[in-house]
Amino acid sequence: MTKTYYLTTPIYYVNGKPHIGHAYTNILCDTLARYHRMLGEPVCFLTGTDEHGTKVAKAALAAGKTPQAYVDALVPHFKELWRVLGVTYDFFIRTTDERHKQYVRSVLTDLEAKKEIYKASYQGWYCTPCESFWTELQLKDGKCPDCHRGVDQIEEENYFFKLAHHQAWLLDYIEKHEDFIRPAHRRNEVLGFLRHETLEDLCITRPQSRLRWGIEYPNSKDHVVYVWFDALLNYTSAPHFAIEGKKETDFWPADVQLLGKDIVRQHAIYWPIMLKAMGLPMPRTLLVHGWWKIGETKMSKSLGNVVNPTEIAAKYGVDALRYFLLNEVTLGMDGTYSEDLLMERYSSDLANGLGNLWHRTASMIEKYFDGILPQVEFPQLKQSLMGPSMGLLDLVWGNMEQYDPRGALAEVWQVIQRANQFVEENKPWVLAKDPAPKTDLESVIVTLAETVFRVAVILMIFMPDTAKKILQRLNQPTIGKLIPNSGQFSEIHLVPGTRIEKGEPLFPRLDD
Ligand code: MSP
Repeated sequence: MTKTYYLTTPIYYVNGKPHIGHAYTNILCDTLARYHRMLGEPVCFLTGTDEHGTKVAKAALAAGKTPQAYVDALVPHFKELWRVLGVTYDFFIRTTDERHKQYVRSVLTDLEAKKEIYKASYQGWYCTPCESFWTELQLKDGKCPDCHRGVDQIEEENYFFKLAHHQAWLLDYIEKHEDFIRPAHRRNEVLGFLRHETLEDLCITRPQSRLRWGIEYPNSKDHVVYVWFDALLNYTSAPHFAIEGKKETDFWPADVQLLGKDIVRQHAIYWPIMLKAMGLPMPRTLLVHGWWKIGETKMSKSLGNVVNPTEIAAKYGVDALRYFLLNEVTLGMDGTYSEDLLMERYSSDLANGLGNLWHRTASMIEKYFDGILPQVEFPQLKQSLMGPSMGLLDLVWGNMEQYDPRGALAEVWQVIQRANQFVEENKPWVLAKDPAPKTDLESVIVTLAETVFRVAVILMIFMPDTAKKILQRLNQPTIGKLIPNSGQFSEIHLVPGTRIEKGEPLFPRLDD
């Protein structure tokens, strides 16, 4: 049986409503998921919420609620945002789900039996916001090396997961698997770290005297599980109960795990070692994206500079936001978010680019052919545009194989631009006045329609609402297999005689 193509996003802390940065990860993952579904593969796309730990406990306290009541009230906001943004996840995991808690406890019991976990007294520096222990050496100017905030000296008895004795294995594994951490600059950072630093075992519990909001450690009334140990396990826990009749190995190992650059250490060091200790195979690729910033600063709940994706989607349309986020930065790099920039792209690429192409194509079919697609034999179509639109699929798929949605969109927009130029060059309004038979006009118009059709099929993975609108107006199916098994774009074509509906503008001008 074909293995399911399994993709995961990080699970989001439920300590506030999601922002553009979170939306980005899930839109990226959704685009990859849609791409693989379009290839005809069975896909499982997992997302969810990380509901334990100090951050959530503190936010609940500030809101005057119990942590459980607090997360229960917030989780629907995440689900609603994913619905609004067209994020087609297959399963949503919550770490407060009893089945997940049981799984975590069973993993811990197993790892203790395998002597991968031990109990010891620990003294060190603790950063509360990051929930991380640091050694004296790791501190930067006496502050947390990650967030640069103050740390506290703490001594307590805890459970530890052995990282140190897997370091050589991990280094070797990453060296031998070029695709394990992408892009390459992130891989190099992890390799540099593993070559030059010594891993310390990971403290995986918190005393209940300090934190109660977590999964109780098996057979201990005194400890809860460290939130990261609990959270990382969501990726292998969900497959146990996500889809009835399926088992873990139908999904795991994941094909791609998306994450932001701030959580590389947990995913590229702790997680592979946890999997190795558990006896599970490694995910194929950890795909690391950059940050969305406002000016020079990361967009973040704690900094209070967040942009609400629901508002942006309501104002400009979901697909304008999806297009902007996917197109503005190369996956892996940081991006600067500004509404002005989004408006610029909206006008130039969406309203004047794709929107205009659709509008003029449909208007001409309406005006010159009463809204009915004329009959033109395939070889009679204009090669100057049919060539690029036929070649589009391979180019887009090539970019998607390299996890480069921006590169893929650039190819699509080249064809859109080419098609708009083609209208100017061929001047259908002049051809329409020619008293001779309309063969040339028919050929120009059908070439345009065939091109928009192919563009729309491809856009199903990036901008599904817009793609659907175009396909529906072209009277084409929007579900099922849009691309033939052969993967050849030459095999799909519009049927002459089809009625075409122009419809409302796809991207109304902003000043309207
Ligand atoms: N709960 C942990 C992840 C556990 S995964 C087993 C966590 N949650 S988070 O809500 O703080 O962040 C979740 C994801 O959102 C991370 O990948 C993070 O990089 C991403 N982003 C948060 N702010 C972001 C930006 N400003 N820009 C892009 N992505 C950002 O970490």
